[in-house]
Amino acid sequence: MRLSRRAVMMGGAAFLGAPALAGFATRRALAADASLDAGRLSHEIVAGKPTADMMSFAADGPPPVLRMTQHQPYTIDVTNRLDEVTTVHWHGLRIANEMDGVPYLTQAPIEGGETCRYRYTAPDAGTFWYHPHCNTLEQMARGMTGVLIVEEAEDPGFDRDIPLNIRDFRLGENGTFLSLYTPRNAARGGTTGTVATVDWRREPVHDLPAGSLVRLRLAVTDTARIATYDIDGGEADGAEARLIALDANPLAGALPSKGFVLAPGQRADVALRVPDREGAVVTLSRRRFGEAAPLARFRAVGASAGRDLAELQPLPPNPVAEPDLDKAEVLDFLFGWTPGGDGPLPSICGTLGYTFWSINRKPWRGDVPDPAAPLAEMRLGRSYILRMKNETPNSHPIHLHGHTFKLLRSNQRKLPPWWTDTVLMQPQEVLEVALVADNPGDWAFHCHVIEHQKTGFSGYLRVNA
Ligand code: C2O
Ligand code: CU
Repeated sequence: MRLSRRAVMMGGAAFLGAPALAGFATRRALAADASLDAGRLSHEIVAGKPTADMMSFAADGPPPVLRMTQHQPYTIDVTNRLDEVTTVHWHGLRIANEMDGVPYLTQAPIEGGETCRYRYTAPDAGTFWYHPHCNTLEQMARGMTGVLIVEEAEDPGFDRDIPLNIRDFRLGENGTFLSLYTPRNAARGGTTGTVATVDWRREPVHDLPAGSLVRLRLAVTDTARIATYDIDGGEADGAEARLIALDANPLAGALPSKGFVLAPGQRADVALRVPDREGAVVTLSRRRFGEAAPLARFRAVGASAGRDLAELQPLPPNPVAEPDLDKAEVLDFLFGWTPGGDGPLPSICGTLGYTFWSINRKPWRGDVPDPAAPLAEMRLGRSYILRMKNETPNSHPIHLHGHTFKLLRSNQRKLPPWWTDTVLMQPQEVLEVALVADNPGDWAFHCHVIEHQKTGFSGYLRVNA
């Protein structure tokens, strides 16, 4: 939806009384560590058929990879050159609420022509990503999704580090955008794209030193696609790949790099030992109708460096507080249908025009200056169990801002004791996760299939100081 200047101004004016107005750079004494320019561009995804009306955080190509260091302050200037409002959310980072980038909940939308300075210190290392939280479906579907890396304070010892921004675009044969979603799919599993890309390229090939140790950082920044991924090939020539972290949190023991599921918002770090023989290839693929569709290839070049995965330092765990399960209070969340009759309210941050879903029978009203009450309130420093019940026949990647939670149990499967910010909830599943509410503020809580988020599957949790 395009918004009139007047609507934006009105939204902004209504917001001015709120306390959390922060981040706008009126006077910038120091240069930022990074700048993002939100704007439209034309770009060739399908060979010879440039796609007009793409959106990015860079003037001339895909959103840049942001790289910062754990525990070190970082500033980013976001300039809005779009003809609509936006904000930027730093997915998975446990930073101060006013830097979280959710319109109205944590900041005023950034208007066209404005620059907003974000400043924060990442407490956790790992692979994260960033995206708008305003007119989210359209802006993300057109390209505004980027990888964000927080380096460990101590170097784990890789020779190379390769971010992989994995997503589809919904393009027709001639390279133009198809409708970004359909209501029919929005009410079901979500509308998936037609062209698979990694870093906006189709089946890119990375040449890597033979026998070297490479960190692959997979980030699924798609708006809808849940899929199974495999990394294989080159084994006869000494290739080896191990999953070492999921959603920025190191795994206690490395896992095989075949057959792992990633949903929108999720990330996987893979330690890859490149084959010894020049020309040998390792392939990242995604299963589709029982067949492996290649996404990217890694080809060995030169003489073997002869390295061994055992030479890597294990990734240090992130400093996430362990919830006290004996004292934890249980909070219930029902992910389900929407009570009849409620149409969407006008939102200056983009509405899809439908409401299909709800949390605790309350469909999100849209990003408006006066958001609904929180779904739950928590006390700072206390432990909580979030008991999430999915009464739908679809899978939903559920994301909580500003916190990392631990997987506890499910009524359907044995859950590994992993830490995450985005968990894939299976159809009809009852899933329990636990956290310490140690970050004060209002934190968005939603499905990361963006059509679901934008048609009711969203809300927020309040952590009271
Ligand atoms: Cu990755 Cu509320 O988002
Ligand atoms: Cu969903």
